Amino acid sequence: MPPCLFNWNATTESGAGSFDSLRLCPLPHGELSHIADKTTREWIFAWLKDPRAYAASATMPNFLLKDEDARDISAFLIANSTPVRGDTIPISSVAQKSAPDPQAGASVYGESFCASCHAVQNAAGNLVGGDIGPELTRVGSKVKPEWLQAWIRNPRIYDPRTAMSHYRFNDQQADVLTGEICSRVDPHRKQAHIFTDFHSGYAAHIAGLHRQ
Ligand code: HEC
Repeated sequence: MPPCLFNWNATTESGAGSFDSLRLCPLPHGELSHIADKTTREWIFAWLKDPRAYAASATMPNFLLKDEDARDISAFLIANSTPVRGDTIPISSVAQKSAPDPQAGASVYGESFCASCHAVQNAAGNLVGGDIGPELTRVGSKVKPEWLQAWIRNPRIYDPRTAMSHYRFNDQQADVLTGEICSRVDPHRKQAHIFTDFHSGYAAHIAGLHRQ
């Protein structure tokens, strides 16, 4: 089933789309009710403007939204997001404290067969891996590191219905894996938590693509 963010209902009374008419669809890939724990308005904005700029495998259509509509929708989703179980997702006490060790992270990724469900683009631009979960080529530009660390430790805390396996990683494994996955960023954009301006970084890159 395709990953999709929402159903867009463009047949409002005025005949134009409006974010009031937004309906959240039963998502094969994801739980939107806690989306602010996971990602940023900036990422949602850029995704809405051009899903394929983020993931070559994206099947969500490009709705050719105007900037203001994409801004309204991303703000709407963030505003309606509730924190997972009260305040925050539990974070390991060792999270982000040790220096990233990409090689150790890559080994845990390989040994855990993450690629049986997730694809990444190789140097030639081909997708390699399964398609049960979303593509992870640039996921470090999407998810917040603390969310990622919690997701890797137990995805069911965030989404009880997820198809992703609950690995019982120890602190060190979870830490190196988080570090490795955080490093998978879009070269035009850095980590999810760094950007605060709709028009900076990734969004500006997308705007540039549209002008070409
Ligand atoms: C059995 C299939 C499966 C395996 C194995 C699996 N995942 Fe997932 N993963 C999923 C699915 C499906 C989702 C999307 C969320 C959902 O629909 O539940 C997901 C979501 C994710 C996300 C969030 C991606 C995004 O764009 O929102 C990350 C990061 C992730 N997985 C990392 C991993 C890592 C690291 C491993 C190995 C330790 C792994 N996954 C193993 C199925 C899997």
